[in-house]
This record gives sequence, structure tokens and C-alpha cells, in this order.
Amino acid sequence: MIETIYQRRSIRKFTNEKISDENILTLLKCAMAAPSARNTKPWEFYVIKDETTQQSLRDVSKNFAFNSSLIIIVAGNTDKSMTKNDNDFWIQDCSAAIENILLAATSLEIGSVWCGIYPVKERVEAVRKIIKEKENIIPLGLIHLGYKAEEKEAKTQFSSENVHFI
Ligand SMILES: Cc1cc2nc3c(=O)[nH]c(=O)nc-3n(C[C@H](O)[C@H](O)[C@H](O)COP(=O)(O)O)c2cc1C
Repeated sequence: MIETIYQRRSIRKFTNEKISDENILTLLKCAMAAPSARNTKPWEFYVIKDETTQQSLRDVSKNFAFNSSLIIIVAGNTDKSMTKNDNDFWIQDCSAAIENILLAATSLEIGSVWCGIYPVKERVEAVRKIIKEKENIIPLGLIHLGYKAEEKEAKTQFSSENVHFI
């Protein structure tokens, strides 16, 4: 597991090879194994195989314009999340799910990159329109997934300056 954490890198160049349905299911199972505040699981996953829809998503931002064979959007569902002051916990819950997908993909030798949607209002609105959802669905991030056409070194970005022993 520790090696997989170091090996996970943002991959932005992919081959055309498709990811099997079995592997997609594994990624989704790992996503939904993530912790969530009060176990509310306020997440929705949109698995985008359709190439026209994929292209619409790439067109939302130049930061998303990578040619992967699969895109998964992870969105918060505010109808399911904790209410009032605690409402924003969905962001942490969905982030944990995204990271689980990235790590599971790494372990399957599938490349991935997390692209941020929320809190950029224009991106949230554009992506929500593409997936034909209502206001209660807040797309947090999209993940490009596919077999790697670039290699990156495993690493940690450990810096003792960021560590505070009290
Ligand atoms: C919340 C979040 C949003 C990100 N958005 C983008 C993005 O829109 N486009 C992109 O190419 N990479 C995006 N990244 C990936 C980061 O650029 C990348 O993780 C960082 O440069 C470190 O590189 P590494 O993932 O290879 O360790 C995002 C990462 C996070 C956590």
C-alpha cells in the first residue's frame, strides 16, 4: 500500500486501450469504501464512456483536456449530506472517494489524474448541465483514467517544514 501511494502520479497521456467493466467496478467499490462523515455517503459517480460526452467535458476547461479512455465524475449530493452548518462535509467525503479511486487505479496499473471542478462556479454549472442533473448535485472533480502513455517516478513530497510536533 505504501509503495502504491508513492507510485500514484498525475498521468495526462493515455493510450486508446479501454478499461474493462470488471476494473471499473473495482474502482467504484474502492471509491465507496472511503470514510464519510456520519457514514452519510453523500456521493454520486458518473461513469462516462460515451466519447461525445467525454469531449464535452474536455471542452469545459483546458485543464481537463486529456485524451483518456474513461472519465469518472464524483459529485456531492446535498440531499444525502449532513445538514446546515455541517453541510460542507460532502467535500471531504467525496475527496476521500476520489483518492481511493486514484490509489486503486495505480494498483491496477491504470493511469489517472484528478481534475478539480468545485468550487469553480462556471465548471460546476457546465458539468452539471452535461450530466443533466439538478442543483442538489455538485460535481467536485473528474478523474481521467486510462492506460499510461507516459511514465512518472514514484515519489513523496515529504518536507519536514510542513510538520509541526506539539
Ligand atoms: C483538487 C485537485 C484539483 C486538480 N485539478 C487538476 C486539473 O484541473 N488539471 C490537472 O491537470 N491536474 C489537476 N490536479 C492534479 C495536480 O496538478 C497534481 O496532483 C499535482 O501537480 C501533483 O502531481 P502528482 O499528482 O503527480 O503528485 C488536481 C489535483 C487536485 C488534488
